[in-house]
Amino acid sequence: MSGAVRLDKLLANMGYGSRREIQALARLGAVTLDGKPLSKADERIKLSPDLPERMLVDGRPLDPLPGVALMMHKPVGVTCSHKEAGELVYGLLPSRWRMRDPALSTVGRLDKETSGLLLLTDDGDLLHRIISPKRHVAKRYVATLARPLRGDERAIFAAGDLMLEGEEKPLAPAALEPLSDTVARLTITEGRYHQVRRMFAAVGNHVEGLHRDRIGGLDLPADLEPGRYRIMGEADLAAIFA
Ligand code: URA
Repeated sequence: MSGAVRLDKLLANMGYGSRREIQALARLGAVTLDGKPLSKADERIKLSPDLPERMLVDGRPLDPLPGVALMMHKPVGVTCSHKEAGELVYGLLPSRWRMRDPALSTVGRLDKETSGLLLLTDDGDLLHRIISPKRHVAKRYVATLARPLRGDERAIFAAGDLMLEGEEKPLAPAALEPLSDTVARLTITEGRYHQVRRMFAAVGNHVEGLHRDRIGGLDLPADLEPGRYRIMGEADLAAIFA
């Protein structure tokens, strides 16, 4: 994000409250820039990447500016949705972040029962670049299977002619790497509904556990615990498309 924006608009869009509430915060001296109180809510603030370090609200550094991207370690049992019943991935973020405009959205989805690397962003262009079928950004999964692999799955998935039930277009080639009799890595470049589970169903198996550990060249960090998230930097974003 670049340019300049009114303080009350900036903070209201970041979920800090209504414009009126921001005006009250500013009057109280609760918003500072470079250590000096910003008492006028209509003051125009120049947006710069270092603003979150320079601006404090109630003594705490400003949240990430619009144009943010997060990586999350999605736990099993949490849903990628804004409005379904039960625990939602957005509930793992600070409550204020759910009031942001533009809103944070997941980049594609993982099933409720799938764990692993999930990206979220409020940047529509970035989101579309990652999920666009033209870009072929690879997604890597580790699947734990109910039955031992037969041995022919790698060739079937690699062929590029596997048709999933109810679909009209065959799947693009996918790379299978057995890790044991009942555990395999699978790398796909599409994002069809329940794709990995349906691929194993198509070869007579059943996925009992599914975990995504890589998107493009970006690995789920080993020290990112389930339920935790991290703000992505330039290098993380570059790794997705590497
Ligand atoms: N494929 C699936 O079946 N489920 C996921 O969550 C992701 C890919």
